[in-house]
Amino acid sequence: MNIPLFKIYWDQDDITAVNKAIKSGWGWAIGPQVEKFEEKLATYVGTKYAITFNSGTSALYALLLACGIKEGDEVIVPSFTFIATANVCLMVGAVPVFAEVENQTYGLDPKDVERKITKKTKAIMPVHYAGLGCNINEIKKIADAHNILLLEDAAESLGAKIGNKKVGTFGFASMVSFCSNKVITTGEGGAIVTNSKDLYEKLKLLRSHGRAETTNYFSSSEYMDYVELGYNFRMSNITASLAISQLKKIEKIIGLRRANGAYLSKKLEGVRQITLPHAPKDYVHIYQMFTIYIEGGKKVRDALKNYLNKNGIMAKVYFHPVHLTTFYRKKYGYKKGFLPKTEQISDSVLTLPMYPELSKKEMDIIASNINTFFGQSHD
Ligand SMILES: Cc1ncc(COP(=O)(O)O)c(C=O)c1O
Repeated sequence: MNIPLFKIYWDQDDITAVNKAIKSGWGWAIGPQVEKFEEKLATYVGTKYAITFNSGTSALYALLLACGIKEGDEVIVPSFTFIATANVCLMVGAVPVFAEVENQTYGLDPKDVERKITKKTKAIMPVHYAGLGCNINEIKKIADAHNILLLEDAAESLGAKIGNKKVGTFGFASMVSFCSNKVITTGEGGAIVTNSKDLYEKLKLLRSHGRAETTNYFSSSEYMDYVELGYNFRMSNITASLAISQLKKIEKIIGLRRANGAYLSKKLEGVRQITLPHAPKDYVHIYQMFTIYIEGGKKVRDALKNYLNKNGIMAKVYFHPVHLTTFYRKKYGYKKGFLPKTEQISDSVLTLPMYPELSKKEMDIIASNINTFFGQSHD
């Protein structure tokens, strides 16, 4: 594609940071940069603790384990999300219970969340979609009223805000992802942020073989006991070095994304067949993705997608509903019509290219192609 969906924002500092970690010739696995990054990430988000993982998925899986969510429990999640949100529930033996999403933020619809609560509901796990916070304040009220854990999947929304509060600070704990297409990236990686020391300690054990680590395992001859079942979900020191360097740039990256989001929105505002991403009052959208809603349903949306792709502009559907994937259909017998709102939104959305270095010229090309497709003027 001439204009890809995303490009990673990197600079010489990233290379220097990784080089330095390599040249140290020591601590390539868990090393000093991991803790340093965790401190900086917690400070940035506004939580007491951050703990890194080798992916957002392993972070979320470990979080559910640490929260004691298990077989027989239910977790309310959206189906309009990346499949990992639901899969982690299955990984711990719980059932992901899908609730509908609402139009404005494409996040969980609080009313449907409330309808889906049963005696078995142990957690609500909303997703902050594409760089925009969901209706988390309402969802939190429901979680609190029913004494249910609130865990945020903020994989796509590091840096997004509601009022003065960063997304990821509303629930008991939250996950952020550093996968390639995220706001800042280390290729693969993730983290949990929380104010709970107890949770932080549990996650530390789960992340590293259930080992009671008193100091860096690799640089100590001390015996460290294994006190429970654990995994190797650690982020490497090399990755953490890159993460620190990326985090230094996050406000610049968000500024560029927001400027591009505003420019592309302006260019497309005259196209009456589409609805642009729109943040509710007091919300700060960081445009991890730029998703438009197309009137006319799947047929028109797919035609636009094909038209853009044919013209060298990558456009993709984020997300196809999780409940309609082969795996979930087979496992639970889901059929079309189970979540009408989610399905209608999913049939109507299209994600356009969005990244810090997307140029005005490229955005003009995207807009003019969309205008041409709908037979409208280019201005
Ligand atoms: C909403 C959501 N949840 C979970 C994940 C999983 O994160 P990761 O790819 O880092 O495992 C992603 C990203 O891919 C995501 O977008």
